[in-house]
This record gives sequence, C-alpha cells and structure tokens, in this order.
Amino acid sequence: MFNTHLYQLQNTVMSTIKILPATKADFKTLQEIGKKTFYETFSASNSDEVMQRYLNESFSEEKVKSELDNPQSLFYIAWDNQWPIGYLKLNRSEAQTELQENDSLEIERIYVLSDYQGKKVGQLLYDKAFEIAKENEKISIWLGVWEKNPKAIRFYEKNGFVPFSSHVFKMGDEEQTDIMMRKTIG
Ligand SMILES: CC(C)(COP(=O)(O)OP(=O)(O)OC[C@H]1O[C@@H](n2cnc3c(N)ncnc32)[C@H](O)[C@@H]1OP(=O)(O)O)[C@@H](O)C(=O)NCCC(=O)NCCS
Repeated sequence: MFNTHLYQLQNTVMSTIKILPATKADFKTLQEIGKKTFYETFSASNSDEVMQRYLNESFSEEKVKSELDNPQSLFYIAWDNQWPIGYLKLNRSEAQTELQENDSLEIERIYVLSDYQGKKVGQLLYDKAFEIAKENEKISIWLGVWEKNPKAIRFYEKNGFVPFSSHVFKMGDEEQTDIMMRKTIG
C-alpha cells in the first residue's frame, strides 16, 4: 500500500493532514503501519527471528481487531489525503498496560512511518492525545518508551514528559528497559 503511493510530504501543506478516529474497517491499515514502523524503528537492534515473532504476535489480525473492539482503547489515524501515514493508540482505565488509575491516560503508541517523521505528524497525534485527556478529565498522561529510542524520548521530553519509573520487558531472550514517563495536566 505504501510503496505504490510513495510521495513527498514536503510537497503537501501540513494543514491537509487529518487526524481521524479509526473504525473497525481500518484494522488492516493499523496492522500495516504498526508492523512497518516497528520494523523500521527496532529491526537494527533486534534479531530477525525475534522481530518476526514479535510482529506476528503483536500485530496479528486477531489482536488488532480485539484492541479495536475494546471501548477503553482509542485509535486515531493520521491521513495525508487518502494515505495513512501514522497512528495513535490510547488506553483508558483497565485497558492501560500498567498503572490503571482512573485519572490517567496511557499513550501506548504514536507511530509515524519513517518517510514522514520529523514533519510534525507525531506532534499532531500527540496533540490529539492531549485533547482526549482533557476531554476525559484525566490528570495525567503516561507512557513507556524503550531506553534505546532517543528520538522518541526527546519527542516526549519536548512535550513536557518526565521519567517516573522503569519497566523491564522481554524481547526474545533479551531483557529490555522501558522508561516510564508522565506529564501532569494543569
Ligand atoms: C517519535 C515519533 C512519534 C515523533 O514523531 P515525528 O512526526 O517524527 O515528530 P515531529 O516532527 O512531530 O517532532 C516534534 C518534536 O519532537 C522532537 N523530535 C522529533 N524527531 C526528533 C529527532 N530526530 N531528534 C530530535 N528531536 C526530535 C523535536 O523537538 C520536534 O520539535 P521541533 O521540530 O520543533 O524541534 C516518530 O519519530 C515515530 O513514529 N518514531 C517511530 C515509532 C516510535 O518510536 N514511537 C514512539 C514510541 S511508541
């Protein structure tokens, strides 16, 4: 889907980017952006076998469909005209992967395809997360980000997030550390 529509975002006006809620019909789009962005971001740091297993498990049709069915998880897709270029996944209450406090909102993923990174698409997706947190009267937004993902860490720092804890997770046989970051909403 992406290669056939290779185009340059530089030539488009940012105001043409629309952030829209995903519907059940969008599961393939979420699956494809998720797999592609995860691979682009993390394949250099993980073996092919570990990557393939993770991609197959975490972005399977069954998993993505069940996430879309969860009323406490919210998905938004960034569209440049008819082309999907990124997405946001938010979790409320018990859908949060940790914490699970009622007054917090989790950003589980902000994924922007590599060709479109650094052009404020991530910022538009984050702005949507902030808007939803306010609408839902949450007092904080939190997330986990891999300690070896400096680009994402800087992106969240820029948006006012500060580390508050860490979490070890297994990627294949290797233990990796996520930095937990939080922003309190004034
Ligand atoms: C992290 C990510 C979401 C950022 O989205 P993006 O569209 O590339 O970022 P933006 O263009 O909106 O940048 C917003 C701000 O973030 C910071 N930033 C983004 N990319 C940066 C980089 N490579 N180096 C330093 N700062 C960066 C900048 O401060 C930027 O503001 P500025 O341009 O005014 O300086 C995106 O790069 C991405 O999807 N990465 C792969 C998946 C991932 O790691 N997701 C996060 C973990 S779930």
